[in-house]
Amino acid sequence: MSLAATPRTDGACALAAPRRAWRQRLASGKLAAGLLIGALAAVSTLGASHSALAAGPLDVRIGFVSPLSGDYANYGRDLQNGVQLALDEANAQNLKIGEQTAHFELVPIDDRSDPRLGVQAAATLANQGVNAVVGHFNSGSAIPASRVYESAGIPMISPAATNPVITSQGFANTFMVIANDAQNAGIAGAWAVDVMKAKRVAIIDDRTAFGQGEADVFERAVREHGGNVVAREFAESVASDFGPQLAKIKAADADLLYFGGLAHQGAALAKQMKTRSMNAQFVGGGGVANTDFTQGAGAAAEGAMAWEYGRPLAQLPEGPRFEQAYKARFGTDVLAYAPFGYDAAWAAIHAMVNAKSANPEVYRSALKALAFDGVTGRIAFEPDGSRKNGASTLWQVKKGMWVPVTTRGG
Ligand code: ALA
Repeated sequence: MSLAATPRTDGACALAAPRRAWRQRLASGKLAAGLLIGALAAVSTLGASHSALAAGPLDVRIGFVSPLSGDYANYGRDLQNGVQLALDEANAQNLKIGEQTAHFELVPIDDRSDPRLGVQAAATLANQGVNAVVGHFNSGSAIPASRVYESAGIPMISPAATNPVITSQGFANTFMVIANDAQNAGIAGAWAVDVMKAKRVAIIDDRTAFGQGEADVFERAVREHGGNVVAREFAESVASDFGPQLAKIKAADADLLYFGGLAHQGAALAKQMKTRSMNAQFVGGGGVANTDFTQGAGAAAEGAMAWEYGRPLAQLPEGPRFEQAYKARFGTDVLAYAPFGYDAAWAAIHAMVNAKSANPEVYRSALKALAFDGVTGRIAFEPDGSRKNGASTLWQVKKGMWVPVTTRGG
């Protein structure tokens, strides 16, 4: 994609600069290498070992963008912990990238789930010439930010942003280690009609690129499977009162309500359904099956369902080890997407090790060709950068705990 053709409507500021930032880092690396070679030549006359001296540490910076404050900060901190755990493990292993021992450093930025701040964060990371980015959390932030990374030539690996647009833009630098909403919400819609036998389906979304996106996919799938959508409502992502929407949904006599949005709003919605004595089955999309929902909804959580990306950690070979290591390191349980953050970071690390370079121009092809067993299963990418064989799991709250019902895909 040429820089001149890059859309500027998202406030992505001077996109030529990031590419220069990379070249400058590269040039200074070459200069350092030149100085090192000169020094080695001098030392060799003293009988010193070249290989021992040539292997100075290589600083590898992994950018990370997520909400770290505001309503969605819990997700962001959880995700950051997953990425940090991967970097800690890689550092402890003294991995080599080419001749050098790599030291991985996290460069986190809080975008507060705001697409404008997400784009600014991407420009900052591109200007700093980070070697890779794990992020963003919100699709609304990830979609415009992906254009910045594409222009800068820096791979962005999404561990949580799931709108399929992210990997459908024809970009060479956009990857996703999590199943997308075309899959997750598509399965949810088909399941609602074919298995749950819902007769009157209502939908409400949070008007974000994520929530609206998954609600659109869900609605299409319901209709394609012969289902009947009796209400389609929305509320802003900051809303806490769903009274007007629920009044319409109750009047439409819905027997299933699909919610496209995240846990804290889903919890408020479930509670308000209970207050209004509504018996429609609550079904969340991604981002709902976690403890933020069960704690927020309290007794109203019981029986709620949600489709979440991936397989239950307990069913994955590395899942229990990850959960224990996470708890030991951070003193808290995994909330949501930490395992995908961990796998996204390892995808970048493995690609750099395989390519013997932390330069995106060199390791990008290794990233595209990657196949490894991560915590969330086998990680490999489709040609467009989306995850191969992503899975989706239906969960239901039973006695206050989310328990898996069935898994599709993967
Ligand atoms: N999956 C959510 C999104 O894409 C977090 O925004």
